Amino acid sequence: MELNVKQDCIGVDWSAVSAILKTVGMAYHEPEALRRAFEASHTTVFIYRAGQLIGFGRAISDGVYQAAIYDCAVLPEFQGKGHGATLMKNILAQIVDCNVILYASPGKEGFYQKIGFRKMKTGMAHFKNSKSMKERGFTE
Ligand SMILES: CC(C)(COP(=O)(O)OP(=O)(O)OC[C@H]1O[C@@H](n2cnc3c(N)ncnc32)[C@H](O)[C@@H]1OP(=O)(O)O)[C@@H](O)C(=O)NCCC(=O)NCCS
Repeated sequence: MELNVKQDCIGVDWSAVSAILKTVGMAYHEPEALRRAFEASHTTVFIYRAGQLIGFGRAISDGVYQAAIYDCAVLPEFQGKGHGATLMKNILAQIVDCNVILYASPGKEGFYQKIGFRKMKTGMAHFKNSKSMKERGFTE
């Protein structure tokens, strides 16, 4: 089945984005908040299969030398088929001159290592919900 990779936010069903993030256990945001976040991002990528949204991700960036990747997810029934790698390839292709940082969900580090990311030794985060992020294994 043919994949369609879109790089703009036109016609995106933000309720579907919100539902997918919830399904994969990532932070919940209202559809309207997701629309604002994605539309304000430097890079957005959405993957459709037969018209169905199956994955997406975004990068915020100055477009010059720094970028950070967020909200990457593939619907569980489509994981393990290379769609996550396609997603990352398309995001990275739009920020080629940038240093790129992200924080992996616990257990997903290997996915990012396979495409060239390395663990940071001095990464620091000031999370809004610091207690929950600690409980979920993101911080010490
Ligand atoms: C992380 C995620 C985007 C990966 O998407 P995917 O479509 O399953 O990944 P792919 O099939 O493209 O995998 C690419 C490669 O990474 C490997 N890989 C995937 N997940 C991995 C993991 N958790 N640990 C180690 N390797 C992993 C695959 O085996 C594959 O290796 P190969 O090239 O040798 O075959 C997807 O699992 C997901 O949406 N998870 C839930 C949400 C999430 O945690 N997002 C990341 C937030 S940081």
